Amino acid sequence: MRKRVLSGIRATGRLHLGNYLGAVKGMLALQENESYETFYMVADAHAITTPYDIDELRVIRRDIIIDYLAAGLDPEKSVIFQQSDVPQHFELAFYFSSVVTIAKMQHLPTFKEKVKQHPDSATMALLNYPCLMTADILVYKAGLVPVGIDQEPHLEIAREIARRMNIEYETDFPEPQRFKTTGEYVPSLTGTGKMSKSIEGSFINLTDDMKTVQKKLAGAPTDSGTIGGEIPKTGGVANLFTMLKLFGSESTYNQYVEDYHEKRIRYGEVKAYLAQAISAELEPMQEKRKELENNTRYVDKVIREGAQKAREAAQETLDGVKAKMGLS
Ligand code: ADP
Ligand code: TRP
Repeated sequence: MRKRVLSGIRATGRLHLGNYLGAVKGMLALQENESYETFYMVADAHAITTPYDIDELRVIRRDIIIDYLAAGLDPEKSVIFQQSDVPQHFELAFYFSSVVTIAKMQHLPTFKEKVKQHPDSATMALLNYPCLMTADILVYKAGLVPVGIDQEPHLEIAREIARRMNIEYETDFPEPQRFKTTGEYVPSLTGTGKMSKSIEGSFINLTDDMKTVQKKLAGAPTDSGTIGGEIPKTGGVANLFTMLKLFGSESTYNQYVEDYHEKRIRYGEVKAYLAQAISAELEPMQEKRKELENNTRYVDKVIREGAQKAREAAQETLDGVKAKMGLS
């Protein structure tokens, strides 16, 4: 049997370069590898774990499916679907919630961070976020999960739940591992932290045109103080070099490193090069996106058929789990 893979992205905003390099590129690589059976979803139900706008969610979850298709996810090779179309995820999440303690969930850094951002919305849904994510993965018995490095604490919980279920109920869940990409940590344009949908000014969207990319990069800080010597490890300049490494050619990267050492680097020039390199990667996706936006029926069909296939696979696992737990 082929090994199963699952990944998803929360439907909280349009995809950016971080999502693309950290998650989507890994999804693409595994889709093209015949040893794997790939399931890729938009995590729309995870979007309701923090305050959200109903009309916006309706648009975003479809937009992410279109972004997936534009980036090269292929319904002939992968099962592409919306999480909320597969109720088996929620049922399994409830069963899983019986093997994790409240204390464990409350101590997760991702939970604490979200509570800090939304102090009035520390809901049960938010506390249960990792449990649902675990069910998303294990309802397909997926052992490999292409996601960025920030998701590691969630995968740790998933492994723990798999272990506990296997011990208590003699299920055969794999302990899911992260599939890493070279872009597992794309830095923010603000100079600190990671590129994120929820941090204004931090991201470049996959739909941004060349002018917008140029403008956003122009606003990224490059502390003009010291140059020469080693490339800094943190801050605006460090981030610019990380982006160069991810998008530029190796020779250009090396050239700019040398320019930095020799104190002749011109950040305006680096940014112009980077804008061009990023746009070159984005343009084919943007063209495909335009086609897909005009092809409502095709996108509807992908979503409908993906849901059908996902439900079938998920139900099989659920039947097995219910039997082991004394629920059937
Ligand atoms: P955001 O932080 O923008 O809300 P999500 O939490 O929805 O992003 O993440 C969706 C996927 O994209 C996850 O797999 C996550 O690890 C990955 N990802 C998000 N931001 C980055 C980043 N800056 N670098 C690499 N991967 C990222
Ligand atoms: N937590 C992930 C994010 O923030 C989204 C997600 C939900 C996910 N369920 C998943 C990722 C299952 C991988 C596997 O983007």
